[in-house]
Amino acid sequence: MNSAPHAAELKVLVTRDHIRERVAELAAQITRDYAGQSVVLVGVLKGAAIFLSDLARQIQLDTTFDFISVSSYGGGKQSSGEVRLYKDVDQSMSDKNIILVEDILDTGLTIQFLRRLFLNRAPRSLKIAALLDKKCRRTAPVDGDYVGFVIPDEFVVGYGLDYNERYRNLPDVCILPPGQI
Ligand code: IMP
Repeated sequence: MNSAPHAAELKVLVTRDHIRERVAELAAQITRDYAGQSVVLVGVLKGAAIFLSDLARQIQLDTTFDFISVSSYGGGKQSSGEVRLYKDVDQSMSDKNIILVEDILDTGLTIQFLRRLFLNRAPRSLKIAALLDKKCRRTAPVDGDYVGFVIPDEFVVGYGLDYNERYRNLPDVCILPPGQI
C-alpha cells in the first residue's frame, strides 16, 4: 500500500499562474536572443515534458524539438551520482542552436553530463533552460541560461516532476514533505 500523500494535501510552492507568467517571460527572452534563427529544444524525459510543451508554444521562432532520456534518481529521492544515457535524440545536432530543457537543476550532474555530450556534437550554440533551480544543492559547476525559479532545498513534485512516477500531472509545483513518503 502506497502511503504517499494525496495531491490535495501537498503545499503549493509555485502556483500554475506564476509558472504560466514565467514560462511566457522565458519564451520571450529566447525569442529575442535567437531572433532570425531557428532553435532545437531538447527535453530531458520525463520531467521536462510539460515545461517543454508550454515553452515551445510561446516561442516565436522556427522551433523543433527532440527528447533525451537519462537516469536520474532511479525512483527515489537520492541521486545515484551516476548519469546514464537511456535514449538519445533522433536528429543531428551539428550546427544547430540547441537548448537543453530540464525540469530542475539539483546537483547539476545530469546537465553537466548532457552539456559535455552535446558539446561533442558540434552545435552552433548550446544553452540550458530549467524551470526550477535548487542552487544551494549544486556540486557540478553548471548554471542555467534560462531559469524559471530558484527554489529552496525541498523535494518538489508536479508540472512534470515526480516521486516514484506520481504527481507529474499536478498543475502547480508542490512540496513533498520529508517523512510522509
Ligand atoms: P541533478 O543531476 O542532481 O541536477 O538532478 C537532476 C534530476 O533529478 C532532475 O531532472 C529530476 O529528475 C531529479 N530531481 C532533482 N530534484 C528533484 C525534486 O525536487 N523533485 C523531483 N525530481 C528531482
